[in-house]
Amino acid sequence: MTGLIVAYSRNRVIGRKGEIPWRIKGEQRRFRELTTGNVVIMGRRSYDEIGRPLPNRFNIIVSKTAEYSAENLVTVPTLTDAINYAKEHFPDKNIYLSGGAGIYREGLDLCDALYVTEVDIDVPDGDTFFPEIDEGLYEKTVDEEIDGDIPYKYVTFRKKF
Ligand SMILES: NC(=O)c1ccc[n+]([C@@H]2O[C@H](COP(=O)([O-])OP(=O)(O)OC[C@H]3O[C@@H](n4cnc5c(N)ncnc54)[C@H](OP(=O)(O)O)[C@@H]3O)[C@@H](O)[C@H]2O)c1
Repeated sequence: MTGLIVAYSRNRVIGRKGEIPWRIKGEQRRFRELTTGNVVIMGRRSYDEIGRPLPNRFNIIVSKTAEYSAENLVTVPTLTDAINYAKEHFPDKNIYLSGGAGIYREGLDLCDALYVTEVDIDVPDGDTFFPEIDEGLYEKTVDEEIDGDIPYKYVTFRKKF
């Protein structure tokens, strides 16, 4: 299974000045649950923001300029290389594209499922966006709705064909 995992605001913002523009305690629970034991693929800037390999999963960083490596991390030059690496080395694991915008744009059509956190705020000064989803191609389910200062929903888009 190749999936994509993202949190975006009402106006589809995923980032602002190199960071995620909200802090919501607990919101990353589904990210952790889905990706632990599996493979995450992320762009170089997203990795720089985190600053270390995510533990208990294999990290593949897409970059033509940086060369990170660790016991559970490799760097490859393209998204295609990343997916091929994951399929070859971890054929039984799920692959999750974890951002940012370039990875999402190139990878959207390659994914069987999109795991989205819909964050119920507008971020007027956001500078990094998630692409439009052609909702006709997917079955959308709302898995969980969480209330709070900033309410959010976990939703899943599954490819119909
Ligand atoms: N809300 C969320 O769920 C979420 C998730 C992840 C990130 N974010 C946010 O998104 C922002 C970072 O995203 P970003 O779009 O600016 O950067 P990014 O995709 O994380 O990193 C960009 C870099 O990654 C490499 N890269 C990315 N896509 C590539 C592709 N398709 N092919 C080849 N190389 C590719 C390139 O590295 P080189 O220049 O080294 O070649 C590129 O400069 C931050 O604000 C972060 O907080 C949000």
